[in-house]
Amino acid sequence: MSDDKQQENTWNYLNENLTQWVMESKSHSMEGNVASYIPELANAPKDILGICIMDSQGQTALSGDHDFRFTLQSISKVFTLILALMDRGEEVVFSKVGMEPTGDDFNSMLKLELVEPGIPFNPLINAGAIAISSLIAGNSPAEQTDRMLHFFRDIADNSTLDINLDVHQSESDTAHRNRSLAYFLKDNGVLDQQVDDVLEVYFSHCSVEATCTDLARMALVLAHNGVDPIRKKQIIPRRFVQIAKTFMFTCGMYNASGEFAMNVGLPAKSGVSGGILSMVPGRYGIGVVGPALNRKGNSTAGVHLLGTLSQKFDWSLF
Ligand code: DON
Repeated sequence: MSDDKQQENTWNYLNENLTQWVMESKSHSMEGNVASYIPELANAPKDILGICIMDSQGQTALSGDHDFRFTLQSISKVFTLILALMDRGEEVVFSKVGMEPTGDDFNSMLKLELVEPGIPFNPLINAGAIAISSLIAGNSPAEQTDRMLHFFRDIADNSTLDINLDVHQSESDTAHRNRSLAYFLKDNGVLDQQVDDVLEVYFSHCSVEATCTDLARMALVLAHNGVDPIRKKQIIPRRFVQIAKTFMFTCGMYNASGEFAMNVGLPAKSGVSGGILSMVPGRYGIGVVGPALNRKGNSTAGVHLLGTLSQKFDWSLF
């Protein structure tokens, strides 16, 4: 059978069965809880699950609550990392953050004090992403936020992508832990700007609102090593996508990244709003949302659904 025919068969099989698999995974949302430490996120319904899978021609397989709108939260950290790499280069970025998983919770400050030289272990934990926010080019938080938003819109090919101001306010009002992390970083010499200015950029990128289709579209560019296969243009240098995907693999699902690599075997990044961005390299971009989270901060139903898909289609990279 030709490659094209085989891909068409896979796509048809996916479309025929996706709704059934979503229904089966949805029941797992009952095992989790919606994040409430950012009060605005607690309004999300617990029992929903949606998915969009996009192929390189832009065809979509959609199922469940795929049009539910949610904020990117930690998923945004993959793209701010890429932007910081594009703006400052590898040497500067890796003078401010490390390259290793922590095994701690995403908002932990433990290792900042325990381990020399007091820089965050990686750019995907909160401390690391705050350090990365400070590296986005611009002379003010407003200019940096504007640059971030334009970059996200370009990758998502969606000029309407915007910040959810209610979530932004809610984050800012309750960010006691993030403020502590940022002051720690400032004291350790990691941040050049004022703490409040850096946090303004950080809250803004976490509060960008999207759907599963936006996630899948953004993931598609990563799946094709920085080239948008639909508009046929290179948006991100290949090396920076390689760095981002490596972090997604080793730290993208926080201290459940090993378990996820074992059961799903794809690069992925989760957020506390219940979104997961993943991809099948060279083929599909995937966006999932299921707001009920497990203890590690990942969507319970979303992780289950990705596990099912990976098994059915033998997607694991290992
Ligand atoms: O700073 C926070 O805590 C949130 N804005 C983002 C955390 C997050 O999404 C962690 N993901 N699992």
